[in-house]
Amino acid sequence: MAPFEPVLTRGLGRLDLTDLSVYEAQGGFGALRKALRDMTPEAVVNEVSASNLRGRGGAGFPTGRKWSFLPNDGRPRYLVCNCDEAEPGTFKDHMLLEQTPFQIIEGLVISAYAIRAERAFMYIRGEFLEGYRIFRRALETARERGYVGPRIAGSDFSLDIVVHRGAGAYICGEETAMLESIEGKRGEPRLKPPFPANAGLYGMPTVVNNVETLCCVPHIVERGAQWFSSIGPPKCPGPKIISVSGHVRKPGNYEVPMGIPAGQLIEEYAGGLEPGRRLKAIQPGGGSSAAIFEEDLDTGLDFDSLAAKGTMLGSGGFVVMDDRTCLVRAALTLVRFFEHESCGQCTPCREGGQWVARMVGRLEAGEGSNADLAILRTLNRTLTGTNLCPLGDSIMPFLSSVLRRFPEEFETHVTQAGCPLAAEQAVAAGAGA
Ligand SMILES: Cc1cc2nc3c(=O)[nH]c(=O)nc-3n(C[C@H](O)[C@H](O)[C@H](O)COP(=O)(O)O)c2cc1C
Ligand code: SF4
Repeated sequence: MAPFEPVLTRGLGRLDLTDLSVYEAQGGFGALRKALRDMTPEAVVNEVSASNLRGRGGAGFPTGRKWSFLPNDGRPRYLVCNCDEAEPGTFKDHMLLEQTPFQIIEGLVISAYAIRAERAFMYIRGEFLEGYRIFRRALETARERGYVGPRIAGSDFSLDIVVHRGAGAYICGEETAMLESIEGKRGEPRLKPPFPANAGLYGMPTVVNNVETLCCVPHIVERGAQWFSSIGPPKCPGPKIISVSGHVRKPGNYEVPMGIPAGQLIEEYAGGLEPGRRLKAIQPGGGSSAAIFEEDLDTGLDFDSLAAKGTMLGSGGFVVMDDRTCLVRAALTLVRFFEHESCGQCTPCREGGQWVARMVGRLEAGEGSNADLAILRTLNRTLTGTNLCPLGDSIMPFLSSVLRRFPEEFETHVTQAGCPLAAEQAVAAGAGA
């Protein structure tokens, strides 16, 4: 098989793709011209559907199908690009924003053309100040060159892009909370249905897509659905950027073919673990995902293979933990994050998050009991699937998975009134001093 050639990150780190002439010299905006000149909007939707592109924001929903849900009732339609990216362990959209903003703009314009939207919104996480500035500059340049605005590239299609900055709330990455935020309201998820396709931004038919999803679109238009669907598993194909962090020698963003085995990503891309270390757990899909373990290293990193293992690819935040990691502490960090970010609308998420954080906090501090452990073992059922949005469902998966796989580690926190690893590490540090 031919070696995998990067698609979305081609030239990054080598070329200055924030310079429009450099982007154009690499073939940039060729797909936009092709779509507007040679394809109807329906043809673009059909091509994207045939490619089997699945959304890269977390849920893996088929993009072409999402686009085809919009009703044909004459109301204005909106496209929203989700660049909120606050999932723990995920930092790929941040990189695309800062290093290849024209690819995002090209994807936005073609996708807006496909769904017949004349206004698009770019929602950028508040903390991404540098990325916001870079994107604004790129947008101005694209406007001056006729790639955004009235009658794009000499066609009949016009599109305005509005840039909206978030204010640092993780929940605003959830699509309906994001719509509320753009409308100037408090960022809280809406009850669904109605879905955004029917009643989205300002009550109009709306599509929300992730940055990386939109970046795939120009390549599908340029090189065809068949090329795209030949990369990785046919039902879940394409290039995928995985953000690798934690206990590997070369953390970073790696573009890989969808479906690459977890072990291959660690060894061939991320430089492996440090010598003498042993893998303990991996979060394959950001802070919301259940862990996989040493015995799962041949699992393909794609939506379906990970779902079959009881976890998810999510946003592609791949966090590696070696044998130095206290899993009680790792779980506590995540539970506290979700507790803090809960918008408070649902009782299981709001109250459950606080109780779980308190119980895991007690265990970590050496003040927990077997009763705490017994309750924690039942909470997956109570807290998952009982909330308005998936944030509440994200409190338990990692905790439950590591509690199931390493029960003795949690039990020792009770019997030894604290973390045995921390004690060992303190002794080792003392011996080395
Ligand atoms: C709490 C929460 C946070 C989310 N954060 C993001 C995010 O930062 N970026 C993103 O694209 N999707 C995020 N999502 C998923 C979005 O709701 C939505 O599914 C996605 O933007 C759709 O784009 P896609 O179909 O291209 O994947 C989040 C979902 C939840 C529940
Ligand atoms: S699950 Fe949590 S974050 Fe989501 S709507 Fe309910 S309270 Fe808000």
